Amino acid sequence: MTDRMTTSAGAPIPDNQNSETAGPRGPVLLQDYQLIEKLAHQNRERIPERVVHAKGWGAHGVLKITGDISKYTKAKALQPGAETPALARFSTVAGELGAADAERDVRGFALKFYTPEGNWDLVGNNTPVFFVRDPLKFPDFIHTQKRHPKTNMRSPTAMWDFWSLSPESLHQVTILMSDRGIPVDPTHMNGYGSHTYALWNDAGERYWVKFHFKTEQGHRHHTNEEADQVIGKTRESYQEALYGKIDRGEFPRWKVQVQIMPELDAEKTSYNPFDLTKVWPHGEYPPIDIGVLELNRNPENYFAEIENAAFSPSNIVPGIGFSPDKMLQARIFSYADAHRHRLGTHYETIPVNQPKCPVHHYHRDGQMNVFGGVKTGNPDVYYEPNSFNGPVEDTSAQEPPLRLSGDATRYNHRDGNDDYGQVTALFNLFDDGQKNRLFANLAAAMSGIPEEIAERQLAHFKRVHPDYEAGVRKARATLTGREPAISVTPNTPQEAAE
Ligand code: NDP
Ligand code: HEM
Repeated sequence: MTDRMTTSAGAPIPDNQNSETAGPRGPVLLQDYQLIEKLAHQNRERIPERVVHAKGWGAHGVLKITGDISKYTKAKALQPGAETPALARFSTVAGELGAADAERDVRGFALKFYTPEGNWDLVGNNTPVFFVRDPLKFPDFIHTQKRHPKTNMRSPTAMWDFWSLSPESLHQVTILMSDRGIPVDPTHMNGYGSHTYALWNDAGERYWVKFHFKTEQGHRHHTNEEADQVIGKTRESYQEALYGKIDRGEFPRWKVQVQIMPELDAEKTSYNPFDLTKVWPHGEYPPIDIGVLELNRNPENYFAEIENAAFSPSNIVPGIGFSPDKMLQARIFSYADAHRHRLGTHYETIPVNQPKCPVHHYHRDGQMNVFGGVKTGNPDVYYEPNSFNGPVEDTSAQEPPLRLSGDATRYNHRDGNDDYGQVTALFNLFDDGQKNRLFANLAAAMSGIPEEIAERQLAHFKRVHPDYEAGVRKARATLTGREPAISVTPNTPQEAAE
């Protein structure tokens, strides 16, 4: 039997086709609360889009641990044999909710693991580094990626002005403008936790760690020209690919790896291992395989399970900890704050954000308190300490102490930092075809910006490698018709044959 339609208060709806009017041609009556309820709900169907990473695609899956890093961490989700339900949301950074998927941009790679000890979130990107290393610069950086306040258009001048004045961005800019800047879909890219986090064990020992998710589908990317064609046909190429693959049972997988650094090594490395603009070279800290992430279930309702999802670097569990990375420290505050604004105070009552383990806290009222006064199950237990057998702290969850030193001041984050060496290592990895596409992509992206800004950026390329500067200079000249065309070699041997 078909269910009876009701108002949101449960009263039956006698007519869902005709408004209540005074006479057949007459005006609508204010007492038609069913119409009012319907219109009022429609007005509230949109919530604020994420201030960054607004456009996204997501799915459910599982993290399976096959390796053994139990000597480094007590985290239950990282013990050999552990299988933890997971949620992934991929995204572009700058575009709004309706942006086309196949745009050149960094991709978000956000993961939520529903562990037996609470939700653990890794809110990373498809790149191992970031544009800035001090969080005070993050809002400025994002302003350059979003629309200009007067023209309401994206501004390459603002982007290159900021980047050329912020040499720490060069590593990420090079990756963004390389082949990996436009993955064909989320299954063909890596994910990186990016920040340095901590692992700690029952003996109270701490290790620094980086998390990597290596695509098992292989890297596949669009050139600018291919992406233009894709966007001309569909703006939803990522949603189509991710949803379609999972729907067809082609479950995407990523090999999960960690790099581990003993705590005291952090004082010995030639680079700051907590600097988000740097990687840990594989030669020094080899990646260790620890398991597989598989996505195998599409959401039943995109809004409820993906748009409403709240990922936060502050969500860690016993055995995993933070590091002194300044950017990570700021993100620990920023995300839950964004969620309280975007979704409401008690956003963890939304099913997709609910931990799949018992939750007992003393937070009280506020938007979306649908669990009663406090989440303790006993109305007399609404403060702590109490004499009514209320939930108490568990000291076994206490991280080992972290020794810090130094005078508190605003240290210049550019002092003594090599912003070029690791970019040179990356540039040297590229073959000629990759380099030529990098030059062409950069020339296109820098098109039309003031010469002074372009020259400032070219000086950075030169410090990476003279060929880098020369290549971009030549590609820029080609674009403006001042010199003969450079040859842009194809993406893959297969394309070369076509
Ligand atoms: P390795 O040769 O051991 O590692 C090179 C890494 O570069 C691989 O992880 C590879 O990823 C990745 N890579 C290849 N092409 C690109 C690209 N276009 N954009 C981004 N990454 C790419 O060298 P090192 O560890 O010494 O690092 C050398 C440079 O490689 C670094 O300066 C950094 O720019 C880059 N890199 C390093 C990473 C690290 O964690 N050490 C991680 C990613 C990049 P894959 O294995 O998926 O092909
Ligand atoms: C989303 C802030 C740096 C990856 C967001 C959101 C905020 C934010 C406010 C929206 C959250 C929401 O509404 O749910 C910041 C700040 C940063 C920073 C303040 C630096 C100080 C980074 C870095 C990475 C990153 C370094 C990756 C390594 C992401 C991802 C999302 C996101 C993947 C989307 C999460 C999702 O899918 O819901 N960021 N961010 N951010 N950020 Fe950052």
